[in-house]
This record gives sequence, C-alpha cells and structure tokens, in this order.
Amino acid sequence: MDKGYDFIKPIGKHSIYKFQLIQEYVSSWAEKLLNTKMCNEIVFIDCMCNCGEYIFEGKTVYGTPVRVANLLSVVAKKYPDKKITLYFNDFSKEKVDYLTHFLPQNTENFTIYLSSIDGNILIKKLGRRFKINTHYLLVYDPFEAKIDWDAIEPYINGWSEVILNHMVSDTRRAIRTVKREEAREKYEMTYQVDIRELISLASDKNAYEQRILSIIENIRNNPRPFYIASFPFFNSKNALEYNFIHCTSNKIGFRLFKTCAWKVFGGHSSNKNIYGKEDQYRFDFVDDASSFFEDSECYTVHNVVEYVYRNFKDANKVKLNNVWDFLYNHPIFPVDKFKNIIKNELKKEYGVKESKGFLIFRDEE
Ligand SMILES: C[S@@+](CC[C@H](N)C(=O)[O-])C[C@H]1O[C@@H](n2cnc3c(N)ncnc32)[C@H](O)[C@@H]1O
Repeated sequence: MDKGYDFIKPIGKHSIYKFQLIQEYVSSWAEKLLNTKMCNEIVFIDCMCNCGEYIFEGKTVYGTPVRVANLLSVVAKKYPDKKITLYFNDFSKEKVDYLTHFLPQNTENFTIYLSSIDGNILIKKLGRRFKINTHYLLVYDPFEAKIDWDAIEPYINGWSEVILNHMVSDTRRAIRTVKREEAREKYEMTYQVDIRELISLASDKNAYEQRILSIIENIRNNPRPFYIASFPFFNSKNALEYNFIHCTSNKIGFRLFKTCAWKVFGGHSSNKNIYGKEDQYRFDFVDDASSFFEDSECYTVHNVVEYVYRNFKDANKVKLNNVWDFLYNHPIFPVDKFKNIIKNELKKEYGVKESKGFLIFRDEE
C-alpha cells in the first residue's frame, strides 16, 4: 500500500475514532443549522488538516477534511439557498496538494478554500471578519500541545464552535526534560503559566486538562451560556493520547456532541479498554442498590443510570423531561439516542416504574 509519499502515515485506532466523531457531529450540526432561518451559511475550518489519507492495518483510512468535504457537498445540494464554505490548511503545501485528490468539486453554494500557511494566521484572519448569519466550526488539531489562544479567542466568543485537540501526551512526555527556549515557550503559551509551575505538575494529566478548561473559561467574555464537553482518547497501550474538547454557546450542539461521542465509542465515554468490567458490581453497595464498576475515564450506560437513580431515588413521581434535563446538563453523559436504554435499565435494575410521562422512583407510603 506504499504510495511513495512519506507523509501518508500509519495511525492508531484512536485517530479513526477522532475522524468518526468529527464526521458524525458535522453531519448533524450542518443540518440543524441550515434548517434555521437565522443561518444563511456554515463555515467549517480544519486549519491543521494534514493530507487526508492514512494507513490503518494496511488499509487506507480518510481523515477529517475528506470525510467532511464529501458529506457537506451532499448536504449543500439539499439546501440550494444556503452556503457551505470550507477552509483546509496545513503548513505543508505537499500535503494540501495531495488532499485535493479526494475533494469534491466546488459548486454554486459549496466552496472549499485551500492554503498552506500557519493555521493560526489563517484563523486570526477569518476571526477578524466573521460574517453575520454565518456559523463557524473550527477544528484545531495540531500534532502537539501547542495552542495559540489569541487565534482561537474569536471562535470561543462568537457565533461559532471549537473542537480542540489537547495533546496531553506530548506535555506529559516532554515537560520534565524541556530544555530548549522554543519548547519552553510552547508549553508556557499553551498552558499560560510559568514553565516551573508546569514542571511541578509532572505527569498529572487531570491538572493539565483543568488548566486548559480554565483558560477557555477565562477567555470567554460573552454573557450567553457556554458549554464545554471533553472526551479522552486512548492509544492501543491504553495510555491517554489526547482530550478532545468541544466548546459551544449552543445547548443543542453540546448535547449533540455528547451523543456523537458515546455513539462512536460504542456506548461508552471513551475508547479506554476497561477489560470487560463494565457489567461487574462494585463491593461498596450504597443505599442497598446495586453499584456498577466505574472508571471516570470510561463511563458506561450503567454509570449514567446509577447517576440518575441516586439523584431521584427519594422522589415519588418525576416528569421524564425533568430526568432528561438533569442529564442534559451533565458534562459527559448522553441523553438523546440513549433514552430507552436508560429507562429500561432504571426499571430492570432499580425497580423504577413508568406511567404517562412520569418515572416513579418510590411508591407512595
Ligand atoms: C493531527 S494532524 C491533523 C489531522 C486532521 N485534522 C484530521 O483530522 O484529519 C496535524 C497536522 O497539523 C499540521 N500543523 C501543525 N501545526 C500547524 C500549524 N500551526 N499550521 C498549519 N499546520 C499545522 C501538521 O503539518 C500536521 O499535518
């Protein structure tokens, strides 16, 4: 399968999950927006897009730009009065030239712009002149923990969304041995703290993640509600590679991203291998109710159901919609597409009953 291009690289399964998650999300995101009066145009930007082709177990796998361009070119035909615009950019002109082999033609309402400059320069330029009635989705996916927050800021505060790859594995590998001035500057820029403070965090992946999340919250200066969802991706050795962070001011987008992630991970919150333990009970039974195995890096539907039960167990009748609203607010747990599974397990595992739009957690005495 060697085509003689050294930039076509083998990838791990986690990268395929990443492509699938973006593809799944963009497909629903586009339709939801184009169906609203307010939105005349959607803009998708992958400012670090690579060449579009990879190898997994000897077979060709397509990356984000190829998947998104092809699916959005079909969507564009359904909405002739609306515009779809895509920007694909990578440092490497060779990679961008190669990518063109897999891209659909531009049409009246569907346009792809290609460039090979620093992605931060491109998004700064676009971020200075957001168009009205136009919604932007930025994918920021460097192959290292290098984040230029000034470039991302307009997308955190505008009518836009960001999918950010926080390459925590890079930081954990390199932080203790950072010597070169340039590398030091990179981590200080990404985490917005002095390198000495970062070194003291050593390999504490949660601390790095919290730092990134608090930077995003600090950058946000728009009073509208704002939602952040973050999902970890693990390599074949079960080590954390990156966190994929989705930021939006749209609650529908937030809910959708959670559903897409759980769908892509086959009913879990990540691709971490939990060695088939998901159906095991824990020893620390609480409240005489069963308690399932729980891993905060890979939740299962059992954990979602348990979370609902613990919150409502003392209530008699609860409107189903109140149960879903409670879950909608959770930063990781899904609701849509999982409602039936959740209801069925509440009944089977905890004896909850359903009647006319209500769940009955406890019989009236
Ligand atoms: C992880 S790959 C991107 C994968 C792609 N987003 C996808 O999902 O198919 C990272 C790419 O980003 C490019 N890159 C890294 N930093 C960049 C920057 N500042 N500007 C432009 N390209 C960059 C690298 O050349 C590499 O091809």
